[in-house]
Amino acid sequence: MKNIYFLLLLFLIFTCENINNMSLVTIEKQFFGETLDGNEIYEYILKNEKGMEVSVINYGGIITSWKAKDRDDNYQDIVLGFDNINDYETKNPYFGALIGRYGNRIAKGKFSIDDKNYTLATNNDENHLHGGLKGFDKVIWNIEEIFHESSASLVLKYISSDMEEGYPGNLNVKVIYTLNNNDELIVKYEADTDKTTIVNLTQHSYFNLSGDFNQDILNHEVKINADSFLPVDSTLIPTGEKREVFDTPFDFLQPKKIGRDIEMDNEQINYGNGYDHCWVLNKHTDELQFVASAYDDSSGRLLEVYSNQPGIQFYTGNFLDGSLKSKYEGNYKFRSGFCFETQNFPNSPNEHSFPSASLRPGEKYLTQTKFKFSVK
Ligand code: GLA
Repeated sequence: MKNIYFLLLLFLIFTCENINNMSLVTIEKQFFGETLDGNEIYEYILKNEKGMEVSVINYGGIITSWKAKDRDDNYQDIVLGFDNINDYETKNPYFGALIGRYGNRIAKGKFSIDDKNYTLATNNDENHLHGGLKGFDKVIWNIEEIFHESSASLVLKYISSDMEEGYPGNLNVKVIYTLNNNDELIVKYEADTDKTTIVNLTQHSYFNLSGDFNQDILNHEVKINADSFLPVDSTLIPTGEKREVFDTPFDFLQPKKIGRDIEMDNEQINYGNGYDHCWVLNKHTDELQFVASAYDDSSGRLLEVYSNQPGIQFYTGNFLDGSLKSKYEGNYKFRSGFCFETQNFPNSPNEHSFPSASLRPGEKYLTQTKFKFSVK
């Protein structure tokens, strides 16, 4: 009997190893640099069978580069970023980063849970933005590599301690980046807590599908699956209204060039200095649904985003002003990248008509977003 168990064990080990060897998505690990306080940062390069490459560092879970093919099979980097760790530490406008605990803004940095008031850093004029002074974009994540039959994953873990950046509860966070052979990157977010807290995790890559970061993104054609968006006040906090997009510059129900209406004289466009708003996605369910797409005709690259989140912040790089040095030639100019940040609504903890962002002990935060590339 014992022998049978032993043979079974050998068979299992053999099968698992074979799955590892069969995986056509590989991971290479290389030294990226040292942080100002002496931590060694590594870059993990996921590469699929076709040639797509996604590089992630253990600082901020940042996607530092993402190479996708154009219609002539040329692979080019399509995300903005830096070529060194110190720029990521000192001047990053969230290029490629994981964002938490609360992605987007919380009015005046204040919220309450069960009648207890909490105060967060006001790091965006009078509001709280993207988790505070040292959000998840600036912490060091533990990374594990996992291989599957036709994909490979990086499992990033971080424990955010009780009251870190002012948020209650010890929060266990896991983010899994999976690259497969269909040119899809799936980002899964998981979290649990020991005290009731608020959570809103997202990914802040700035895309420029042309692969030429000296060009702006105004010719990209964008589609967003949303009949309404959240108007904001002059400090970019949603007013609480859900406004229909029809007959406004916010209508992306049919593919439209980003540049078509971006200069319109419209109060909401003026507040954002372009698009910097959350769209209310149609048909919000637990399943992945089509959220948005962007197409660049000069290269033929098409990016489609699927998610089970209720909203997407579509931001058109309006704060880029030419002062940041590119990882290649030149500087990042105004609107040279755009972000598709799938998420819960901004300021949800203070806006009771918005979907709840609270997480209680015993519950699991589970969200997922898929970025799919193809060419036309
Ligand atoms: C988000 C915000 C923008 C801006 C960027 C980072 O997209 O909505 O207002 O802060 O992050 O620069």
